[in-house]
Formats: sequence, structure tokens, C-alpha cells
Amino acid sequence: MLLAPVLFLFASSTKIVSGADWCYQSQVTCNHTCTGPEVWGVVSQHCNGRSQSPVNIVTRRLLPDERLNSFQFIGYQEAFHGRLINNGHSVQLDLPSSIRIKGGNLSAQYKAVQLHLHWGKDGVLGSEHTIDGEQFPMEMHIVHIKDEYNSLAEAGGDRAGVAVLGFFFEESKSANKKFNPLIIALKNITQPTNSTTLKGVSLEMFIPPQKNMTKYFRYDGSLTTPNCAESVVWSLFENTVPLSRKQLAALSQLQSSSGKQMVKTYRPVQPLNGRQVYYSGGHVALVSSVLYIMSVLVSSTLSHYE
Ligand SMILES: *[C@@H]1O[C@H](CO)[C@@H](O)[C@H](O)[C@H]1NC(C)=O
Ligand SMILES: *[C@@H]1O[C@H](CO)[C@@H](O)[C@H](O)[C@H]1NC(C)=O
Ligand SMILES: *[C@@H]1O[C@H](CO)[C@@H](O)[C@H](O)[C@H]1NC(C)=O
Ligand SMILES: *[C@@H]1O[C@H](CO)[C@@H](O)[C@H](O)[C@H]1NC(C)=O
Ligand SMILES: *[C@@H]1O[C@H](CO)[C@@H](O)[C@H](O)[C@H]1NC(C)=O
Ligand SMILES: [Zn+2]
Repeated sequence: MLLAPVLFLFASSTKIVSGADWCYQSQVTCNHTCTGPEVWGVVSQHCNGRSQSPVNIVTRRLLPDERLNSFQFIGYQEAFHGRLINNGHSVQLDLPSSIRIKGGNLSAQYKAVQLHLHWGKDGVLGSEHTIDGEQFPMEMHIVHIKDEYNSLAEAGGDRAGVAVLGFFFEESKSANKKFNPLIIALKNITQPTNSTTLKGVSLEMFIPPQKNMTKYFRYDGSLTTPNCAESVVWSLFENTVPLSRKQLAALSQLQSSSGKQMVKTYRPVQPLNGRQVYYSGGHVALVSSVLYIMSVLVSSTLSHYE
């Protein structure tokens, strides 16, 4: 859902909902009112490229790489007022460009643009990336662009112009109170183009509670919405964000620009086409512990669907 702001601005200057607008599979109807993921190539040729996202991460094929050191999260603790918008395809929070990341073997410093979510229906099965074929209930993308660029569109022309930090969500028994400001604000933005302001929030509230965020997966891919530009350095963190089923299900109250319920807002996984997925764990010995952690993750995820 990465380029939606650009598309949205473009669309809003012409007409918000047109038959040619792209949409997710859940919004495709027999009478072809919108363009689903299988045919996004007609919206943008990039969507037919060979380095597309999301992908399925196969843990036994991960290559540990010691150069994948820890990130510096600059300004992640600082409070800001951010516009929260229903952009017709997702819910997006605009971020101040004073928020930055470096490290993590990135070739440059990147500044934050926005974050948004991908979710399922009624709180289950909604992530874009999968691990060993398992889908998480939700996935958050914090989108950053290289300092030198002024927009996501401009960064789209650079193979490493965009750095997205991806976070998986897991269902927890109790609510994650830090997410309440966003969850509560959703009822004010149920219709496309509605927006509101989240006051006094910080990125720290939305990322996993663990301090130690050194374990992540890395690969080169694309934006997961049209125009699907192959300009993204992906970092997907192993630590997950806990949310209750009720909080996860709250996303399903939003309406999309196709006129339908905004649910299952994920693109299907794309072929790797020979790309390697790296892991920051360092030693190969750590991979077995990843497999263990993943099997725990997966079994606890599975237990939620029982
Ligand atoms: C398309 O089909 C849906 C039902 O599947 C119907 O509600 C809608 O009015 C139709 N739209 C058009 C443009 O025919
Ligand atoms: C780390 O950065 C170097 C230099 O940019 C690059 O050649 C290498 O592929 C990167 N490693 C990973 C695992 O991304
Ligand atoms: C939601 O809308 C109500 C009524 O218009 C307003 O009082 C409230 O401050 C809004 N809340 C948020 C979080 O936008
Ligand atoms: C949300 O958008 C709808 C349709 O554009 C509009 O009628 C409604 O007043 C908006 N609601 C808010 C809280 O801005
Ligand atoms: C993170 O955890 C690893 C292994 O669990 C440990 O070696 C490292 O020192 C920790 N780093 C921080 C900053 O706590
Ligand atoms: Zn996204």
C-alpha cells in the first residue's frame, strides 16, 4: 500500500473513485469495477517486474549476514501531531521528516514519510509478507526515503531510494494500550478521504515493546501497491507487536474507495526470482534458534485460528 498517497493526490484532483482504480482481491467483483492484484500490470508496468514484494520468507533458506548490524532509530521517541487518513486503500499516518533511520547496513540515512497498515478480516490473516507460508493478522510499514529525495515518487527512481521497516502483529489476550489513540480515531475516518489528527503520539508507541530490535530479515523488493516501483530495501523485524483481537478487528470498520469494506488489504506474495533473503542473526548457529522462535510464533499464531 506504499504509493497510495501519491495516487490518492492524483486521484483527488480528477475523480476519487474511477472504474480503472486499483484495488485488492477482496474488492474485485464479477463486473470488474476495479483492477485487482492479478492485473495491476495494466495500472503500472512495474508490477510485472522480477523483484516484487511482498514475498514468502523461507527460514531454512535465510543467509545470515554479519553486516546487518543494528539500526539507529532517530526521533522515534519524540511526540508529534500526525494526520491520520483513510486514503481509500489503507489507513495512513503522516510522519515528520525529522524522524530518521540509519545503520542496518543501509547505504545512507533515510527520513520518515508515513506509516500504514495491511490487515485481514475481523482480526485474522492480513499480513503481506509470510514466514514459511504463515500469514500474520496484520503488518505495519514505516516508509522512509533517502534524505536527498523530496517525495516517495522521486525516491522510486532509485533501486535503494526507499527503506521500509516492516512489523508483524500477533494477537494478544489483553489490549495494547499504546495503540488505543489510533484504534479509537478509526471511527472518525471510516469513509475514504476522511482524516483526523493524532496528537502527542510517537513511533515508539507503534513498534514492538522489546528494546532489542537486532533481529530482522533483509531483501531488495518493491512497493506493494501500484506503481510497484522496485526501489525498496526491506527490513522485516522478528519481534512482533501484540494487539487484541478486538483491536485488530477494528480496522475492518473502514470503507475503501471501491465502496466496499476495507478488508484483506494485502497483495499476494510474489516470486523471489533468485533473490536472496538475509538475516541479521550473524552466525549460522543462530538460524536454528530463529527456526525455534519461528515455530513458536507460528504455533502461537495458529492457535489463534482454532
Ligand atoms: C456490480 O455488482 C455488484 C454486486 O456484485 C452490484 O452491487 C453493483 O451495483 C454492480 N456494479 C455495476 C457498475 O454494475
Ligand atoms: C551490505 O552493504 C554492502 C555495501 O552497500 C552491500 O554490498 C551488501 O550487499 C549489503 N549486505 C546485505 C546483506 O544487504
Ligand atoms: C472524533 O470525532 C469526534 C466528534 O467529531 C471528536 O470529538 C473527537 O475529538 C474525534 N477524535 C479523534 C481522535 O479524531
Ligand atoms: C467523512 O467523509 C464523508 C464522505 O466524504 C463525509 O460525508 C463525512 O462528513 C466525513 N466525516 C468526517 C468525520 O469528516
Ligand atoms: C540484544 O540481544 C543479543 C542476544 O540476545 C545480545 O547479544 C545483545 O547484546 C543485545 N543488545 C542490546 C542492545 O541489548
Ligand atoms: Zn505497505
